[in-house]
Amino acid sequence: HRTAAVIPAAGRGVRLGPGAPKALRALGGTPMLVHAVRAMARSRAVSLVVVVAPPDGAAEVRHLLDEHPLPERTDVLVVPGGDTRQESVRAGLDALPADITSVLIHDAARPLVPVDTVDSVVEAVRDGAPAVVPALPLADTVKEVEPGRPGEPEPVLGTPERSRLRAVQTPQGFDLKTLLHAHETIAVNGEGATDDAGMVERTGVTVVVVPGHEEAFKVTRPLDLVLAEAVLARRRA
Ligand code: C5P
Repeated sequence: HRTAAVIPAAGRGVRLGPGAPKALRALGGTPMLVHAVRAMARSRAVSLVVVVAPPDGAAEVRHLLDEHPLPERTDVLVVPGGDTRQESVRAGLDALPADITSVLIHDAARPLVPVDTVDSVVEAVRDGAPAVVPALPLADTVKEVEPGRPGEPEPVLGTPERSRLRAVQTPQGFDLKTLLHAHETIAVNGEGATDDAGMVERTGVTVVVVPGHEEAFKVTRPLDLVLAEAVLARRRA
């Protein structure tokens, strides 16, 4: 049983503000992507990490990873990504060697996920679940709205019961054949799927949730960078 991790890191990160592609921005002096690769490599179950770089940035990403040492048992491949997250994930899956049977898909934008969370996802897949997502209950109440023009009030359509909702994180873990089947059969329009498990759900396969972790939050907006720096400083103290 061999598990690989695919890290889509080809996003521009426009919501974070102007600057380098999100995955290449520094956290505690080290690029976010390097933190994310190390977070996967820390799991003894992961023997290969495939990093999906911006389409024109594979050489730069390769160079960056060569400068930051990883555990010896971990191989790292770098492949160019696509226009959508989904295309980037597909490019990563296509690069996997034939002996890989299960895969983790992990956002470069979640650099601080603890190894225990990674291990619990891997364990659930190895125990037979075809698709596993780490997730947390929500603090906020969520409303469904009729999206309007930016800045205009939006009518509320409904309020799902909060106790039944979960905010989903990564790494998401899959039996590789199950995920490949979803990529081959599920057509997604526009920006593509925001979540790999969502594609698997649409093939009729049951996805299960395991507990996520607060520190697996996604670095999306400028405030998230402040939080990430604080988490790192606390770990180093
Ligand atoms: O934009 P969002 O925060 O949802 O991106 C999640 C992850 O998907 C990020 O790690 C980002 O780099 C990656 N991504 C990608 N290729 C794209 C768009 C996003 O690899 N075309």
